[in-house]
Amino acid sequence: MLKLLVLCLLTSLMFVQIAEARIRHYKWDVKYEYKSPDCYKKLAITINGGTPGPTIVAQQGDTIIVEVKNSLMLENLAIHWHGIRQIGTPGMDGTDGVTQCPIVPGDTFKYEFKVDRAGTYLYHAHYGMQREAGLYGSIRVSLPDGEIEPFVYDYDRSIILNDWYHKSTYEQATGLSSIPFVWVGEPQSLLIQGRGKFDCSNTLSAPGVCNASNPECSPYVMTVIPGKTYRLRIGSLTALSSLSFQIEGHNMTVVEADGSYVEPFVVKNLFIYSGETYSVLIKADKDPSRNYWMTTNVVSRLPNTTAGLAILNYYPTHPGQSPPTAPPAGPIWNATAPRLAQSQATKARQGFISTPPATPDRVLVFLNTQNLVNGYIRWAINNVSFTLPHTPYLVALKYNLRHVFNKSPPPIGQDLQNYDIYSVAKNKNASLSDGIYRLQFNTTMDIILQNANTMTTNNSETHPWHLHGHDFWVLGYGIGKFDIHNDHKKYNLVNPIMKNTVPVHPYGWTALRFKADNPGVWLFHCHIESHFHMGMGVVFEEGIEKVGNLPSSILGCGETKGFGRP
Ligand code: C2O
Ligand code: CU
Repeated sequence: MLKLLVLCLLTSLMFVQIAEARIRHYKWDVKYEYKSPDCYKKLAITINGGTPGPTIVAQQGDTIIVEVKNSLMLENLAIHWHGIRQIGTPGMDGTDGVTQCPIVPGDTFKYEFKVDRAGTYLYHAHYGMQREAGLYGSIRVSLPDGEIEPFVYDYDRSIILNDWYHKSTYEQATGLSSIPFVWVGEPQSLLIQGRGKFDCSNTLSAPGVCNASNPECSPYVMTVIPGKTYRLRIGSLTALSSLSFQIEGHNMTVVEADGSYVEPFVVKNLFIYSGETYSVLIKADKDPSRNYWMTTNVVSRLPNTTAGLAILNYYPTHPGQSPPTAPPAGPIWNATAPRLAQSQATKARQGFISTPPATPDRVLVFLNTQNLVNGYIRWAINNVSFTLPHTPYLVALKYNLRHVFNKSPPPIGQDLQNYDIYSVAKNKNASLSDGIYRLQFNTTMDIILQNANTMTTNNSETHPWHLHGHDFWVLGYGIGKFDIHNDHKKYNLVNPIMKNTVPVHPYGWTALRFKADNPGVWLFHCHIESHFHMGMGVVFEEGIEKVGNLPSSILGCGETKGFGRP
């Protein structure tokens, strides 16, 4: 009897341990629906009827399975898990043309991967310009049982900031690849967790198209209990805009960025770029008899979009009650210094520092320019504008398929010494290529992103660069031309933050370091949807020989037709 009892106890203990890593199974139906996130009715891509889609909530070590049914009818689809490194599962990165063939209409694709690290991540479409049609959401990964965060809070909330256009992605994409170039301009509204407000009196639309009292565009409300501390996870998935975010009367303490703990610092405005995530702590310690504005504003480009508004609601004040004050104004849109200062203030938290290798094995300098290719406006890296091949690189490289992409590697640098980053280039022409960088496995790579003037006089834009499959150490930022002989001496090798997305500021440079230790093929690109579409990206291959069997579900297009199928 006693033996049996002990056995029972043992098995139940074992069960508790095994039960830690769970499988989280989702079934998503992706389709077009009419939505009015900013009161203006247009077609949006929804997941199970919503945009943003469902938040994936998981625990470190869990396996996520998402069965995605493409019900778009007329369009292919792919979904990327932004910030998840896909260690051992490069075929599940969800990048059309790089790691998989797109999911064709009517098909169901099963994504399956591990979330190996706690933190705040995102997901979004990675086919064409579908992300800005509304296919996006949050991924929140908590620590394993028994581990605690190095900061204290009572409740956890997630929001995504976004910009929103009334023109369809088709019109936008066609405009970008037309002569003359047709630019969609600034967004019609800014959304906080999928809700914004377009001024309906500003439009001559047909009756019923813009309806200010549609409940779909009532502001997002975050209710707080007086005295409690909230961890607010903020992600940005804008198509274009750099944003500032603030909460009226409340400071925010930054504690996490892209899944890494930050040495805490306090801000009134949080600057956030497309593809970044932050966690901030907020204390609900203000006058509880009223509500407060949460606002987001465009920075870095001359704004032509009204602020996005949400409500911080103090319980038991009515959530629908507008704050009695006017929303706070955003920061000066074209002041780069405070944005650079926030970038530089973001360091790894004491006790959680991952020290980078002291020196790189290879340094690549990526000059970011705006160019012409056969008269089309494009973005280029070292004068090469990226195009996606029809057959995904991952499959082509793993199975040695020939004639799939340009085998000559892209340039490893441009003559920076003699390039004037402050003027419009004399020769604006660049070329197209789908060539890739093949990295030696396990080597340490340094990337210097160098910004420059666009084809418009006195203009340089902000580009948030995102790396798939890795985090990188952010070694430094600067304004002006990177000095290859001296600037590396100023790198922060003591407590650099690890991120997956960083901005390169106007006329500035950003230096990062990563280990090429994740077998696969990985995109590195500007997270501005139109910029990537216009060629602002590169691809890295590393350790392809170490990639195991690829799932047959990623095949089916280009040279992979019938390939790997029994
Ligand atoms: Cu979130 Cu390749 O992007
Ligand atoms: Cu860009």
